[in-house]
Amino acid sequence: MNITTIVFDAYGTLYDVQSVASVTDEAFPGYGEIITQIWRIKQLEYTWLRSLMRRYEDFSAITRNSLAYTLKLLGLKYEDALFERIMNKYIHLDLYPDARQTLETLRGRRLAILSNGSPAMLAALVRNTGLDRVLEATISVDAVKTFKPSPEAYTLIDSTLGVRPDEVMFVSSNPWDAIGAKSAGLNVAWIERVTPEAMAQACRRTDLVAPLTMFKAIRMQMDELGLKPDHRIHGLSALTEILAPSSR
Ligand code: 2OP
Repeated sequence: MNITTIVFDAYGTLYDVQSVASVTDEAFPGYGEIITQIWRIKQLEYTWLRSLMRRYEDFSAITRNSLAYTLKLLGLKYEDALFERIMNKYIHLDLYPDARQTLETLRGRRLAILSNGSPAMLAALVRNTGLDRVLEATISVDAVKTFKPSPEAYTLIDSTLGVRPDEVMFVSSNPWDAIGAKSAGLNVAWIERVTPEAMAQACRRTDLVAPLTMFKAIRMQMDELGLKPDHRIHGLSALTEILAPSSR
């Protein structure tokens, strides 16, 4: 395995989408967690629905639509300015604590993002968090007008960076994305941030499952789709270990 290029998913992998909870809770005290979970669940669902219907709208529009859906179903009234303040967090998301250090450690290889995000929202996020200094490219699926896990989305790695799939390690914590990349022929490292044991325990403790626990159950556990990632790691920093043999 000669991995020359490491391509990361953005939302949920380098960037913590749960970090929107600070602004959702400030905007609607007591509702932060439920807004955060329904918003993300619906955002992803809309990408898949739009891909299947072949009615592409970019991720920025989808993120707005899914937030509007969420606030409406919860009966929450808001001014435009408040809506924009919540949306603004999407271009200022928190990095996972080990993201910056891991990217620094991996310097010397080609590093990029492949994300469902729109070009503008990704460019702003990457710039605001300083990752533009370490990433060679930030690739948006917008170029093919469909979303991951469509195979067309993953071909953008080859067509943008000019690397063969066997030279690429794709890294995602989103199970559907890890499986999508594997299905498209890439080497894949899946970040398992919540173990099945922790999950089972969280669901056993009470019959009142918290929104975050429900999110973890449906969006953070490996799916039963007959494909497996090549590597199962527990954080971004473990990437250096699985890539080590070829760097010697
Ligand atoms: C991405 O960044 C949506 O997490 C997904 O592509």
